Amino acid sequence: MQNNSLPPSPHGSSRDLMRRPLDFFLTISRTYGDIVCYRPAPEPAYLVNHPDYIRHVLVDNYKNYSKETYINQMFKKVVADGLLVSEGETWRRQRRMMQPAFHQQRIAGLSELVVAETYKMLEKWSAQEGEPVDISREMSVLTLSIITKALFGVDIGSHAAAVGQAVNLGGDLLEKPRHPRFQKALETVEEVVQHIITERRKTGKDTGDLLSMLLDAQDEETGATMDDRQLRHQVVTLLLAGYETTANALTWTWYLLAQHPEVADKVREEVDRELKGCRPTYTDLVRLPYTLQVFQEGMRLYPSAWILGRKALHDDEIGGYPVAAGTIVAISPYTMHRHPGYWENPDDFDPDRFSPERSAGRHRFAYLPFGAGPRQCIGNRFALMEAHLIIAAVSQRYRMELLPGQDIHPQPIFILRPDREIWMKLQS
Ligand code: HEM
Repeated sequence: MQNNSLPPSPHGSSRDLMRRPLDFFLTISRTYGDIVCYRPAPEPAYLVNHPDYIRHVLVDNYKNYSKETYINQMFKKVVADGLLVSEGETWRRQRRMMQPAFHQQRIAGLSELVVAETYKMLEKWSAQEGEPVDISREMSVLTLSIITKALFGVDIGSHAAAVGQAVNLGGDLLEKPRHPRFQKALETVEEVVQHIITERRKTGKDTGDLLSMLLDAQDEETGATMDDRQLRHQVVTLLLAGYETTANALTWTWYLLAQHPEVADKVREEVDRELKGCRPTYTDLVRLPYTLQVFQEGMRLYPSAWILGRKALHDDEIGGYPVAAGTIVAISPYTMHRHPGYWENPDDFDPDRFSPERSAGRHRFAYLPFGAGPRQCIGNRFALMEAHLIIAAVSQRYRMELLPGQDIHPQPIFILRPDREIWMKLQS
């Protein structure tokens, strides 16, 4: 039954929201319940923190919720025609065309390069002879080189460095899209990407990478293919969406493993038992379920996409409360993943909670590191394959130990990053 009043609302909150958004959202959801009205601006916004409400916004009534929020406007300045920000019919057509690039078979085909790049990193580490590493930086470098090669193929040679440098700079400056250095970085990425597209169009070869798929992609209804501008925007979207998210999820997982040596031991046991010292491959992954659970639990506690924003297009109702057209509706995987009604001891790191027995009966929308519904992450299988292989390959050789004296906190900007470097000692 509809209630005519707004959901419960904290008083005078916007300063806490700006200063410490994670604590703010956790506190308001724990104090005021599963739907809370807060005021990031004079207009009210809702935080919904109940799996049924999340399903309503992201799945059942998703057409009523546009992605047109502040964060998206920033992305739009960068990749206006990309899948992350497009809407309506344009988005549907793009998604249909891009989906085949992420099918299981393609993902399996890309797994070898993940292992090869991980081994390169391990070789570099072993040459450093016990020097500590900043694991956050290592994971960024690794995932960027993986996504670059997954997109453009392993032979991209000298282009890789140019793409890498520009994307790195772009990632750092994404908060300031008008900054001249950001604009310059973006131009460089677009130029390099255009160059690669032009070369590839000439040879017309399917090299098994994501770009080949995108070049061949055809709209099944109209038969249309993507022009160069669309292709560039899709490629840059995948670069931006696909590397820092994965890098941070892995960084937090190593951070948690370093604090829980008993869990790191279990991963090592599983990996040693199943791989017997061999390089992991895609087909080994099914025999490494605990390793995957560790990553799932890492993403529960520190979801890279810690908040998802939507805007109601028409009046609606959630949990009995009216939602006026234009209202911003926020969903925070961070708060949902720590909801005590759905997670026992929610702040504890406990990968066994993702075992089949303990997962049975859990509400499907209580866990959403990749979002949910039609707009869920298109790269989720790729990211899971990638992280699973990286954790297995690294754990075969090393265990992480945090150097003492580091006070690390999550910093929620676009994605949930650590607020500083994380220095680890590598134990063989
Ligand atoms: C651990 C790694 C990752 C996480 C946590 C993550 C998370 C997410 C989330 C939560 C969304 C939905 C956003 C929303 O509903 O507002 C999303 C969308 C998206 N992600 Fe990911 N992602 C990851 C890796 C990747 C990778 C590897 C790629 C590509 C190679 C990718 C490409 C995309 C794209 C294109 C979208 C937009 C999909 C659409 O709107 O149809 N992501 N991601």
